[in-house]
Amino acid sequence: MTTHSGVAVVGSANMDILFTVDRVPSPGETLLAESVALHPGGKGLNQAVAAARAGAVTTFVGALGRDSHGNQLAAVLTEDGIVDTLVRRVDEATGQAFIVVDGRGENTIIVASGANSSVVALTDDDRAAIAASSVLLLQLELPVGVVLAAAKFARSVGTTVMLNAAPAQPLAPELLESLDYLIVNEHEACLIAGSDDLSVASATLASLVGRVIVTLGSQGSALFDGGIEVGMVPALKVTAVDTTGAGDTFCGAFAAAIAEGRELAEAATFGTTAAALSVQRVGAVPSIPSRESIDAVLE
Ligand code: ATP
Ligand code: RIB
Repeated sequence: MTTHSGVAVVGSANMDILFTVDRVPSPGETLLAESVALHPGGKGLNQAVAAARAGAVTTFVGALGRDSHGNQLAAVLTEDGIVDTLVRRVDEATGQAFIVVDGRGENTIIVASGANSSVVALTDDDRAAIAASSVLLLQLELPVGVVLAAAKFARSVGTTVMLNAAPAQPLAPELLESLDYLIVNEHEACLIAGSDDLSVASATLASLVGRVIVTLGSQGSALFDGGIEVGMVPALKVTAVDTTGAGDTFCGAFAAAIAEGRELAEAATFGTTAAALSVQRVGAVPSIPSRESIDAVLE
């Protein structure tokens, strides 16, 4: 019998170029930023860091360019103790995200995928890492073909499959059928289900995937299991300065909690606490909390 442990993330890595502004400019308008900074990011990397900081042995499968951004992101993986032997270094620019955060902490993001686009197939070593993990955590910043291949393979070897369907795009039935967990925000839920009504969209998704979590920003999240809503996890009341990566922090911490055997609601509470800590700090990776700080709030 195969032993599964830890979390494998097959996903993107980006250098985030974060502009802080009072308000988002209108079309045709030029604004002066209050500040600009570079931070490690990318949904895959953020979720891997969140899982690792939450205490899971974490493996990252993705691609970085042979440039300075790639070197900086590789250093993050090392510093966080993430297994990085499956990371490809390729002759394309490391992924970049242009992020604008306004005075209310809301963000707008444009991603240039670069090296992330080169991850089009899994290697035998990637498959072995997925097979050895308890949880495979996926997002939609890699080519969707490799996301589907990873999900189907994980399913075939008994690894729990989680998809954070971000950025939003319609999902093939074949991909939905391969999932154990689907994690979406309101916008993603409506787009994937093809309904503007969040209740209808959530019910549709819950009929297609065993467990669904719809995250609701400062309202928390709604949990669905076996086609029915089983509860709400309220968000913590905190002052958000930058919500970039809140969803990623939730997903990574949630995956770590499921990998260590926690039940749905308990794992969601753990992820919610991690996300609440993250929104109180600027940047994606810099804002992701440690296991100790999550446990301190929960206690
Ligand atoms: P993002 O794209 O900004 O990373 P998202 O849209 O994927 O996030 P959200 O629903 O905004 O996901 O947030 C994910 C979780 O983070 C929420 O379920 C909640 O627990 C937490 N969270 C988000 N915003 C806040 C906030 N302002 N205060 C407290 N918790 C928050
Ligand atoms: O979810 C936040 C992430 O989305 C950022 O770190 C950015 O890189 C984009 O991928």
